[in-house]
Amino acid sequence: MSQPSAFQMPKPVLAIEGLTVSFDGFKAVDDLNLYIDRNEVRVVIGPNGAGKTTVLDLICGKTKATAGSIQFESRELTKMREFDIVRAGVGRKFQNPSIYENLTVFENLEMSYPKGRKVFGALFFKRTAEVIARVEQIAAEIMLTDNLYLQADLLSHGQKQWLEIGMLLMQDPALLMLDEPVAGMSVNERMQTAELLKRISKGRSVLVIEHDMEFVKSIAHKVTVLHQGKVLAEGSMEAVQSNPKVIEVYLGH
Ligand SMILES: Nc1ncnc2c1ncn2[C@@H]1O[C@H](COP(=O)(O)OP(=O)(O)O)[C@@H](O)[C@H]1O
Ligand SMILES: [Mg+2]
Repeated sequence: MSQPSAFQMPKPVLAIEGLTVSFDGFKAVDDLNLYIDRNEVRVVIGPNGAGKTTVLDLICGKTKATAGSIQFESRELTKMREFDIVRAGVGRKFQNPSIYENLTVFENLEMSYPKGRKVFGALFFKRTAEVIARVEQIAAEIMLTDNLYLQADLLSHGQKQWLEIGMLLMQDPALLMLDEPVAGMSVNERMQTAELLKRISKGRSVLVIEHDMEFVKSIAHKVTVLHQGKVLAEGSMEAVQSNPKVIEVYLGH
């Protein structure tokens, strides 16, 4: 590959073009274009049923596109299997945390270390210095250093969400996607989550779906408003918030 010239725009990490999925003729995502840069925190907002979660399902390969392309670091994700998309560097957090409640924070993180271990393998896994260092580093990032040896079911709701983010970070994804990460969190936890997302967006791209406008305002570099599977508006939080179309279909309610 040739060196990019100083005048060239950096290539987006994620380039979605013409993305469409139809469920029995209903287009949940309709000819969508979306570009996300490295180090960018993008927030997608929009009314219920707008297609937000479906976009994440399409990116992570859970749902197959009817048409269009999803280029991630120059790889075409629409042709790849879910597992290979994860290995290519896409991490996705679902709305409900999927942590192992009966394992400790340490064990949950350790298990997510990307060297081919599964739940049962982890029990017999030799803890190398490399793994321990990585677990400790991630635990510090997700504010769970003091809870490393606590069983995960004893964590607060917010801490469980952070643990799951930590499990994704163990794989060092270039693109991290989070679906409504602060739902059910206290105000304090929301603020801490905003700081967490700002920290972890360095060197990667973060795509967040969220309804909490205070939270969106505190993290978003750019906001994309989705409506009926299409982009209704896109830009800074201020621009989007004062857009009459956005107020009509979403913020006015
Ligand atoms: N697997 C599916 N089969 C049929 N319809 C679906 C499926 N997934 C999502 N939908 C429909 O697509 C629309 C968008 O859903 P979704 O992406 O969950 O919206 P949002 O996350 O913005 O609330 C909804 O009308 C939903 O019922
Ligand atoms: Mg959703």
